[in-house]
Parts: sequence; C-alpha cells; structure tokens
Amino acid sequence: MAIEIKIQDVARYEGQEVTLKGWLYNKRSSGKLRFLLVRDGSATIQCVVFKGAVSEEVFENATALTQESSLTVTGTVAKDDRSKIGYEIQVSDLTVVQIAHEYPITKKEHGVDFLMDHRHLWLRSSKQHALIRIRHEVIRAAREFFDMRDFTLMDAPIFTPNAAEGTSTLFETDYFERKAYLTQSGQLYGEAGAMAFGNIYCFGPTFRAEKSKTRRHLTEFWMIEPEMAYCDLEQDMVVAEEFVTHIVKSVLKNRRPELETLERDISKLEKIEAPFPRLHYDEAVEILKKNGVDFEYGDDFGATDETTISQQFDRPVIVHHYPAEVKAFYMKRDPETPQFALAMDMLAPEGYGEIIGGSQREDDYDVLLQRVKEYNLPEEAFAWYLDLRKYGSVPHAGFGLGIERTVAWISGIRHIRETIPFPRTMTRLYP
Ligand code: 4AD
Ligand code: MG
Repeated sequence: MAIEIKIQDVARYEGQEVTLKGWLYNKRSSGKLRFLLVRDGSATIQCVVFKGAVSEEVFENATALTQESSLTVTGTVAKDDRSKIGYEIQVSDLTVVQIAHEYPITKKEHGVDFLMDHRHLWLRSSKQHALIRIRHEVIRAAREFFDMRDFTLMDAPIFTPNAAEGTSTLFETDYFERKAYLTQSGQLYGEAGAMAFGNIYCFGPTFRAEKSKTRRHLTEFWMIEPEMAYCDLEQDMVVAEEFVTHIVKSVLKNRRPELETLERDISKLEKIEAPFPRLHYDEAVEILKKNGVDFEYGDDFGATDETTISQQFDRPVIVHHYPAEVKAFYMKRDPETPQFALAMDMLAPEGYGEIIGGSQREDDYDVLLQRVKEYNLPEEAFAWYLDLRKYGSVPHAGFGLGIERTVAWISGIRHIRETIPFPRTMTRLYP
C-alpha cells in the first residue's frame, strides 16, 4: 500500500511508493512520456508517466489532463537533482478527480486587473502561494513573540462608536438606527487591556476609507498591536525592534523556499538585527535637506520622504519625536519639548516606508480631555477612555504593525495588494 504524503515531505520517502492528492499545474508531453507538474498546496513535484510502466487507461488519463484538473497519483519517489525539490515521482497509477475546462489563467502574461478579478484562482499560482505562506509565517512569528513574553491576547471590537486615527478615513455603518464605525485600530481598547492585564496585544482586521490609490494602502488590513503598562517611548522602541527582528529571522528560517520562489535578495534580510538606527524628527528632516528634498518643516513625512530617509540605512530605522500637531490626539507630548509628541514610526528599508506606528500615550486626565476637545472629538464617545486616566493612570505605550506592509517588504514585492488573500481597495470589492 502506498502511503499518502504531502509533497513538501517527499525527501523522507526516497525509493518508496507514495500517493499524492492535488492538481495539475503544468504538463509536457514527449512520445511515450507525460511529465505532469503536480501541486498539492504544500509544494509542486514532477510526476513522470511512462507508457510502458502503466496501464493503457492510466496513460490516457495522463494525456487528457488539463491545467488545474484534480487528480490523485501514485508512484515511486526517485532522486532528481535537476528539480527544485530534488525528487520526482515515477508514476504507477493515476486517477482523475475532475477535468478542468479552460482554466482562465494561462502561461501567457495577464494584466493585474484580470488576475485580481480571478483572485480566487490566482492564489494557486506559485508566486501568490509563496506570498500567502510568508504572510502566515509573519503572523505566526508575530503572535509567538508576544506569547513568549506573556502578553495576554485581548482582541478589540470591530464596530466602534468613535474614531481612533482621524475622522477622515472612517467607514460609517448603520447600527440599529445609530451610527457605528469600522475600527481603524484596536489601540484604545488595548489601553483598557493594559490597565487590566499589564501587557496585552490585539490582532485583527482594521479599516480605513483610504481614498488614495497607492501601492501601500488597503482599505482593510490586519494590524497587531501590543500595549504595555508602565512603559515609556524608549522601552516601546526596544520592543518594536526586537519584534521585527524576530519576524524576519522566523521567515528566513521557516520560509526559505518561498523567498527563493520570489527571488528575494536574502542577504538584505540577513542584515536585519536589533538595535535599529534611531532619528529624532529634526535629524530626519536634516537627511531630507541634504538630499535636496523640498520639505516643509513641521509636516508629516510622505511616501517619497520616507523612502529617502530609509535608503540611508540597511535595516529599519525608527523616527521619533514627530511634531505633535501632525499626530494623533492620544499621544503624550515630551515634557521637555512639548512641540514634539512621544511618537515613533518604524520605516522599512528598500523604500517600503512605514511598517509600525506607535507612541507613549497621554496619561493625564485633564490634558487628554483638552486634546479630545481640541481635535473636535465627541466627548461622550470617549468617556470610557478618559476613565482609564481617572482610576490608577500609569505611563503606558504601544504600537501597531501592519501585516501587509511587513509582508510586502520581507517578500520584496512592489505592491501591497498581493500580500492579503482578497485585497480591498477603493476600486476593488470583488471577488
Ligand atoms: O500608524 P498607524 O495609523 O497607527 C495606529 O493605528 C496606532 N493606533 C497603532 C498603535 O499604536 N497601536 O498604523 C499602524 C500601521 C502602519 O505603520 C502601517 O503598517 C499600517 O498600520 N497601516 C496600513 N496598512 C495598509 N493599508 C493602510 N491603509 C494602512 N494604514 C496603516
Ligand atoms: Mg502611522
């Protein structure tokens, strides 16, 4: 009896008879031979059908197979140094599960819109497959990092009565004759969690009505957000750089074949090691000036500014102490230089821009109430948040890492839309 295996484990079965269940990725024919490239979700392998070694029916079945037809195949595992996986299958038996007719994604070049319209099928292609497997590893490693440090997972709601990150990108929805918004960030709830559990993280989808069509913005993206009680900006930055180092090392360790499929320059990732360079906002502005960038002091950095800054370094760089005016209402200001917020952004190298945004939070009741008013936010919706400053307020800080931007950077792909199974942008809601 053949043993049923996953292709990725094939090396353990050299010389043995195995059964694979999968789909036909590609096929070549030459005389009495059919070369079937079979994928099963874990990897792909070449299965060789020799007319002299199988029944007539099996050979006919192999001949009839079309791209993405489903099949089970049985055969002997043989070493093959020319193949990427190092082995091939010498087929003894083959069963067709279903013949696929006119699979729309062929070997010819397709435009991105066509491929995105067929995203439900495109996910089967080797590059997309590699990206989603890297995404899984980024998420697994991110959770592992906080789990190992005993942070409590405390997820935030998705329907919220208030804005967290500015009112211009809110998705509004009808909530039983009231207004609700899709959450932009779990942070405010995370702060309640930090006061209850010390260190927490939340991880979930977040939503922003981004009207910009850039390669860095989605309207629905996933964010992992730690929040720590008795923590200041300095400690926050240390956690952030150790966190990102852990994620990169995990992907290098566990997803190397996928990085190779994407032809990622791995030497660039191998340089990622904490501590990361840090720049005060003023120092970052100096870099822009030196590089001849036309930049108005006091503004937030745009995508091209971030690229110029991050290109000076071979690892992520943390910019801290942004002008308070361009940052969120909840950020604490530096007591010594109150024009600056105790904020930090981490910018990925190679022009990928901001992957982390974080800060120390305002912990004084009166100051925070003042900010809520200054930012024209509805006080009632923030009563619970203000409560946190009434009952045992402590210094606390946290940050949010965008999963998709991190995957784009680590994978080395240009556009964020391929880093999530079904991307949502201003122009894309299907499939
Ligand atoms: O800098 P942001 O807006 O920070 C926050 O939401 C804080 N409340 C987080 C916190 O302190 N707990 O967003 C954090 C990260 C960004 O650095 C980026 O990686 C990602 O979320 N992000 C997006 N990713 C994809 N598409 C978008 N439209 C994004 N907006 C932010
Ligand atoms: Mg930000």
